[in-house]
Amino acid sequence: MGARRRGALAPRAGIFLVIVTVIICFRYYRFDAGYDWSQHAQRFPVAEADMTRPPQGPPLRQGRVQYRFPRAAFVAPDARLASRREAVRDAFLRCWNSYKEHAWGYDELAPVSLKGKTTFGGWAATLVDSLDALLIMGLDAEFNATLPVVGALDWARTADSSINVFETTIRHLGGLLSAYDLSGERVLLLKAIELGDMLYMAFDTPNRMPPFWLNFAQAKAGTQRAGAADPSAAPTSLSLELTRLSQLTGNPKYFDATDRVKKFLARTQETTQLPGMWPVQMDFANERAWESRDFTLGALADSLYEYLPKMSALLGGHDAAYERMYTRAMDVVERHLLFRPMLPHGDDILFSGNARVLLEKEGVQQHVELVPEGQHLGCFAGGMFGLGGKLFGIEKHVEIGERLARGCAWAYDAFAAGVMPEIFGMIPCPSIAEGSIESVFLLYRMTGKAEYQEMAWRMFLAVQNATSTEHANSAILDVTIEASATGKLDSMESFFMAETLKYFYLVFSPPDLISLDQYVFNTEAHPLRRPKR
Ligand SMILES: *[C@@H]1O[C@H](CO)[C@@H](O)[C@H](O)[C@H]1NC(C)=O
Ligand SMILES: *[C@@H]1O[C@H](CO)[C@@H](O)[C@H](O)[C@H]1NC(C)=O
Repeated sequence: MGARRRGALAPRAGIFLVIVTVIICFRYYRFDAGYDWSQHAQRFPVAEADMTRPPQGPPLRQGRVQYRFPRAAFVAPDARLASRREAVRDAFLRCWNSYKEHAWGYDELAPVSLKGKTTFGGWAATLVDSLDALLIMGLDAEFNATLPVVGALDWARTADSSINVFETTIRHLGGLLSAYDLSGERVLLLKAIELGDMLYMAFDTPNRMPPFWLNFAQAKAGTQRAGAADPSAAPTSLSLELTRLSQLTGNPKYFDATDRVKKFLARTQETTQLPGMWPVQMDFANERAWESRDFTLGALADSLYEYLPKMSALLGGHDAAYERMYTRAMDVVERHLLFRPMLPHGDDILFSGNARVLLEKEGVQQHVELVPEGQHLGCFAGGMFGLGGKLFGIEKHVEIGERLARGCAWAYDAFAAGVMPEIFGMIPCPSIAEGSIESVFLLYRMTGKAEYQEMAWRMFLAVQNATSTEHANSAILDVTIEASATGKLDSMESFFMAETLKYFYLVFSPPDLISLDQYVFNTEAHPLRRPKR
């Protein structure tokens, strides 16, 4: 009888299951689970014969980036440094364990309410972003435990109708490639290829310039267009990741895609309102860069400039265009953006401000006005000048880099909570004649000066003090008040573990752990392997 009943029920249960499955599929697999973008015919394809290939052959002569540390720095562990490194690793593990317990597989942990959050497409952003940090910190068992999650990631499975091309590239693609470079785990490269094929669809526009958002429906219909007023950093900072993917796979298409954006930059560099620099917004659809009158190394434009010397490093110096564009742009930055703030003790530090081109009639340039605004995002500028200076043998740039990094550290110390707000105003000295953490770390490795380790330690303590919650760390509302009173935003973006804590860890580590002569960091702090000499 039992068997009969089950038999009678089975068809109805079957129909019910089919309906449920259809609903679930419609909800989560709207964009076809496991959609193979490599097989999707592009509307504006590039024939393989027309593709530019990444340069081959041994790297050309480039300047040594790291300081020649004495042998003792590698072999004899300094007890104080080791204990600082432990403290950073403990902070990392505290966040990691909370993520594991409360938000495993989610993009982010909400560090106050202790819940998982979906903020970047639902592909475990914190986990993917942290892979190389786990390896660097020697947390191998934790790393191994992530691999099944990575293997199960399905880029077609998202509730979002579009994704941010830049963020997905620097976090997910950068994270996978970096962890592959460090571990050789095949699954990481396979996932990077799948993701790279999806991101490659963003270049399927009439002029092959990518839009800010990759909209899946438009991508499938072949109706995408580049933006007419997009942040200039977004389409121009995909180059390191896509180039590394071509280098690792031998497939030139990813490199070709980003090389076309480079040619756009090269074509427009002298056509802007401030020739030599590119403005904060550009018209990628019509390939024009002259409308916008605002110029900065900070938000909206930052990684455009950052990636110029970094691309030269990743290509082993083979593409001279990157060096040329960098040195030209930095001449203008030096002349119009750098300023020395008026400080009571006359500290020899520099900040990078914003420039606005004021126009007279009919678009004729009148003069360039400096807007003396220090930006947190602009803190990378010290490291960029340092790297450019070392690679291309420009001693003055290393000095500028040092003064910018000290400026950044000064600002950290200067605010009551000990942490910089994103944007702050300042009174500039008339001339710069007399000088975040990526910068502090990079300059430590470039100069070997222990003062940078001290700066990093003060920053680490201040960050911990202001952002710690009971179980992790949270973004805060206001840094101009005492640390204990800072309002917590219940947000821990994946870069806190992936970037901030990783750089703190490395600055207290022996200098051959991720040597700057072997690796170049993307803008999300993922080290990518440079060509071997
Ligand atoms: C992690 O996995 C690798 C490769 O499967 C293995 O060799 C290694 O022992 C594992 N490490 C730990 C700590 O489990
Ligand atoms: C942490 O914050 C407290 C209270 O605001 C302050 O007294 C203390 O000096 C801070 N410690 C560090 C290392 O910044």
